[in-house]
Amino acid sequence: TRKIIIDCDPGIDDTLALNLAIQSPAVEVVALTIVCGNVPVQIGVDNAFKCLERLGRLDIPVYVGADQPLYKPFVSAQDTHGMDGLGDSHIPRQSTTQPAQQSAADFLAATFSQPSDISIIALGPLTNIASALQKNPDLGRHCARFVSMGGTYKSHGNCSPVAEFNYWSDPDAALAVYEQLDQTIEMIGLDVTREIVFTPTMLAYCQRVNPEVGDYLKAITQFYFDFHWQYEHIIGCVINDPLAVAYFIDPTLCRGFESYTTVETTGISIGQTLVDRFDFWHRPANSLILTEVDTTRFFEQFLTVVLNAQATLIKT
Ligand code: BDR
Ligand code: CA
Repeated sequence: TRKIIIDCDPGIDDTLALNLAIQSPAVEVVALTIVCGNVPVQIGVDNAFKCLERLGRLDIPVYVGADQPLYKPFVSAQDTHGMDGLGDSHIPRQSTTQPAQQSAADFLAATFSQPSDISIIALGPLTNIASALQKNPDLGRHCARFVSMGGTYKSHGNCSPVAEFNYWSDPDAALAVYEQLDQTIEMIGLDVTREIVFTPTMLAYCQRVNPEVGDYLKAITQFYFDFHWQYEHIIGCVINDPLAVAYFIDPTLCRGFESYTTVETTGISIGQTLVDRFDFWHRPANSLILTEVDTTRFFEQFLTVVLNAQATLIKT
């Protein structure tokens, strides 16, 4: 079992990713660190606890992170995820468990003060990681693997023509991480996540196989379905974050190439990932850009774990 810390901004698809990671026998979730992104950080913390209590895993510590990006003003994605960040499902929070005292950045900096077998999966803007890196420049070298959901190579952006939300949200943090992490950033960007469309047929399948989980998935994804129909005329919703977890568990799910990558922090291309695939800039590779994904095998892994039932019948 490999150990992971998940840095996230829950968020509908973050919550799906947490459901996968926490229930997968292949990984042990050591801690959650929360960052502002889809929702203000306190709502993200509440949603993390809602997920942990539903799974009976309140033993996993939650660390509160940044309530705003490094420099840019905070802009949430509540139009996409609902005011409550869970598709306006208004699932109540029952427990009174408190987050840890230490800040997310201090926790991350301390955890990686020496070489560690723990990996980081970042599912939100990279503010917490950048802040931890300022405190501990060895963080990247000391973590086992670093996977980031964010950015885009060839695919269109999702909050500007060229920028993906997590890196657009805090481009200065994303730049700092790409320039200073000193560890290969395994980038699960929109090129691969756009392929991961959770459809009404899959939802119906979930409700048949495991009605309790199916109803829960319906409650949190309905809003996301409506959003995708309204803005992109897609039947279904793109669930980005679970792919980062599934890929961490099984790297054969995605393929890509190594490259030097950096992030634009100003102007109309703010947040864009610049992927120097053909080495114009002669800089050492700092990233593995994933561009191809086996969606059928993703859904088999995801649904088998989340539904707690072998899901082999899924054809996308
Ligand atoms: C990313 O942005 C957020 O809205 C999602 O949770 C995901 O992490 C996709 O661009
Ligand atoms: Ca996210």
